[in-house]
Amino acid sequence: MNVMSIVGARPQFIKAAVVSRALRRSSVLHETLVHTGQHYDDNMSAVFFDELGIAAPDHHLGIGSHSQGVQTARMLEAIESLMVKAQPDRVLVYGDTNSTLAGALAAAKLHIPVAHVEAGLRSFNRRMPEEINRIVTDHLSTILFAPTTTAVEHLRCEGVPGSAIKLVGDVMYDAALYYAERATAKSAILSILGLKPGEYCLVTVHRAENTDAPDRLRAIVEALAEVAGEMRVVVPLHPRTRQALARIDLLAKLEAAVTVLDPVGYLDMISLEKHAQVIATDSGGVQKEAFFYRVPCVTLRDETEWVELLDLGWNRLAPPSSPACIRNALLAPDLRARGRQAPVDLYGGGEAVARIVACLEVAEGWSRPSGRRREDLF
Ligand code: UD1
Ligand code: UDP
Repeated sequence: MNVMSIVGARPQFIKAAVVSRALRRSSVLHETLVHTGQHYDDNMSAVFFDELGIAAPDHHLGIGSHSQGVQTARMLEAIESLMVKAQPDRVLVYGDTNSTLAGALAAAKLHIPVAHVEAGLRSFNRRMPEEINRIVTDHLSTILFAPTTTAVEHLRCEGVPGSAIKLVGDVMYDAALYYAERATAKSAILSILGLKPGEYCLVTVHRAENTDAPDRLRAIVEALAEVAGEMRVVVPLHPRTRQALARIDLLAKLEAAVTVLDPVGYLDMISLEKHAQVIATDSGGVQKEAFFYRVPCVTLRDETEWVELLDLGWNRLAPPSSPACIRNALLAPDLRARGRQAPVDLYGGGEAVARIVACLEVAEGWSRPSGRRREDLF
C-alpha cells in the first residue's frame, strides 16, 4: 500500500518525524514523502530533518513564499502532477497549512482517499487562513484522525459520518515523549544563553492576525519590554514576524529589550519550553507543549482551538489588544498555581502514531473516497 505524505511547514516536519518513522517500519505500507517547500530556510526546515532523523523527502517541490492563493495554487499544480505519476493508494496530510489544503484537494479530485492528521480543530474564526484550510481539508478527507474529543464533536456537528472519525490523540504528544530525552542530552541552549531554569519567559509569535496588525504587534512588543523588567524574555523569532517588526520599525526596540533569537531547532525549543517560568505564544503547537511540560501558557490570540487547556487553567487567552492585557496575564500571581490538578491524558497517552498507522494498514473504511451520502448528512 503506497502512502504519500505531504509536508511543507515547521510543525508538519515535527509531526511527520514520528509518523513517518512508524510508517517506514510497517510491512504493509510504503511511504513517499513530499515536501512542498512552503518553509525553506535552514532553521525552518533542514534543521528538523537533520536533528529529528526524518528521511529526506522523495520529492521537494520548492514552492516557497507567495500570497495565499498563489502559494496554494502552485502547490496544487505540482502535487497533482506528482500524484498522477505516483498513483498513491492513500494520501496523508497534517494540520492546517496551505500545504495541507493543496495535498487534500489534489488527492480528492483524483479520487485518492485522504487521511487528515489533526482533524476537527476549529477556532470559529474564518478570518484565519488556517480555519479555511482545516474545514475544507476535513470535508475532503476519507479518514479523519482527531486529536481530542472536542475535535470529534466538531466533526460530528458538521455532519461527518462517525465511521470516518478516529479519535487517536495528538501526534505532537508522541513527538514530545519521543524527543524529550534527546533534548535533555543534546541541547545546550540554556547555558549558551545564560538562562536559569524557571526564571525566564519564552515567547513565539507568527500568526497573521498578529504579524499583519501593527497595533497588535506594537502591544506585544511593549508588553514584552515591560515583562523584561521582571524576568528574562526569550523570543525565537519567526521570519514572518521579523519582517513585520522591521516594516513598522519595532525590531530594534524588541531586540533592545529582550533576547531575540533566530528560529531554533526542536530540541532547543523543547529545552526552552521545559524550563520556562511562563510561555506566551500564538502557536498551536507551543500551547500544547507548554502543557506537556506543565508550564503555564498565555495565548496571544482572541480564541484557541485547544480549548481543553483553557478549561483546565493551564492556558489563558490574552488578546493583544493592549500591552496591559498581555503584561497582566503574564505576571498574574495565580498563573503558576492555576492548573496544578490537571489530568495527564488529554492527548492520547502517546499512542496516536500507533493508532494512525494501524488504521492506515487496514483495508476497511477506505473504499469510498470522501464519501458522504445525503443520509449521513441529514
Ligand atoms: C504557516 C501556516 C501556519 C503555521 C506556520 C508554522 C499557512 C496559511 N500558515 O504560517 O498555519 O502555523 O506556517 O510556522 O499555511 N518565510 C521565510 N522563510 C521560510 C518560511 C517563511 O522567510 O522558510 C517568511 C516569508 O516571508 C513568508 C512568511 O514567512 O511570506 C510566511 O510564511 P508562510 O509559510 O506563508 O506562513 P507562516 O506564517 O509561516
Ligand atoms: N518550534 C521550534 N522552533 C522554534 C519555534 C517553534 O522547533 O523556533 C516548534 C515548536 O516546539 C512546535 C512547533 O514548532 O513543536 C510549532 O510550530 P509553529 O509554532 O511554527 O506552528 P503552529 O503549531 O502554530 O502551527
